[in-house]
Amino acid sequence: MSYVRIVPGVPYVNESEIWFIFCYNTSYMDVRTNIPLKNFTTMKLGGNARFMTDVFSKEDVRQLHLNAQKQNLPVFTLGGGSNTIVKDEGFNGIVMRMRIPGFEVESDDIFGTTIKVGAGENWDDVVKKTVEMGLSGIEAMSGIPGTVGAAPVQNIGAYGQEIADKLIFVNVYDHQAGFVVTKTNQQCKFSYRDSIFRGEAKGLYTIVDVTLRLHKSNPEPPFYSTLQTYLDEHQISHYTPQVIRDAVLAIREDKLPDPAKLPNAGSFFKNTIIDEWQLNELLKEYDDTPHYEMGDKRYKIPTGWLIEQTGKKGQLINGIRVHDKNCLVLINESASSYSDLDAARSEIIGAVRDKFRIAIEQEPLEL
Ligand code: EPU
Repeated sequence: MSYVRIVPGVPYVNESEIWFIFCYNTSYMDVRTNIPLKNFTTMKLGGNARFMTDVFSKEDVRQLHLNAQKQNLPVFTLGGGSNTIVKDEGFNGIVMRMRIPGFEVESDDIFGTTIKVGAGENWDDVVKKTVEMGLSGIEAMSGIPGTVGAAPVQNIGAYGQEIADKLIFVNVYDHQAGFVVTKTNQQCKFSYRDSIFRGEAKGLYTIVDVTLRLHKSNPEPPFYSTLQTYLDEHQISHYTPQVIRDAVLAIREDKLPDPAKLPNAGSFFKNTIIDEWQLNELLKEYDDTPHYEMGDKRYKIPTGWLIEQTGKKGQLINGIRVHDKNCLVLINESASSYSDLDAARSEIIGAVRDKFRIAIEQEPLEL
């Protein structure tokens, strides 16, 4: 016998249809329908999900995909919703909220510790735990909102660290094959805020757990410049994972709006990577352009700086505020729809294009 439990009080589309789609073994899978996705994303915009359900195990993920495939219904995996933008038409499929738990020490030696973490864990809770264990490697990524499973998708990074540096492998549910396979760090093809999971393999896999290798030694300089400045200002010279975590949390609190209070999706744009010849052209006209060498004659230009030069810093465009402490962040102050955001975004992208002839790119994924 199989069951699906319709959550009481939530309107649903067609109960028999839901019964047919979501059922397996003797477990319950709560399915909710017509769910406003703005309540599940930190940008607080967009339409409804036709169906939404939580998954707590690899088997839940498998059963949900098998049943959805039979029905030809698309599935979208949602973590904390801090890097997802929802369109006004919503999603005519199943939003699968990733809730798989787990934090296991896989191996431990004098140099470091390997941990396996469930995709549904909160990223910052995991950072906190590893820092409390005295481990280093992800402490500078403290305070990043979202789930562990979402972290490799856009190769999260902050203050000089990125998850690609510490990730050994991920286990993913392969939608086509119907079972879990392992993707090594190399197979994930990480680069700046990018991986196969948002590129060539978009929609093919669901990350179910992440394995990281962390160190027992203290973090060592050189640190990212804003972090170093903070440490100097506070006369901190003994660097432990906890000291770096505390410093990063303080810097973030000052510079980045808390999504719980002011709806936003962190950096709304990626920093801009250009070739050496493009940089030289830019410097001819704007000789103060900040730039960081990335190797291979490629340079990173802070997109926040580009936007700031257009005069948009702090401006309110269609209810969307360009954050006055970092133009990379867009705050949904009073926008009521995705189209408001779309218009604001076009205006900002257009202003940068007109001034610098550079096409800036959005960071959050769109559903
Ligand atoms: N800058 C400006 N004006 C701005 C913003 C930045 O001039 O409005 C310039 C400054 O020159 C500053 C430089 O940009 O020195 C770098 O700024 P910052 O250190 O604040 O970082 P960011 O490049 O704006 C990136 C990440 C953040 C991460 C910080 C710190 C991206 C897209 N963003 O921002 O990540 O926290 O570095 O490491 O790579 C996120 O992805 O959601 C996120 C917040």
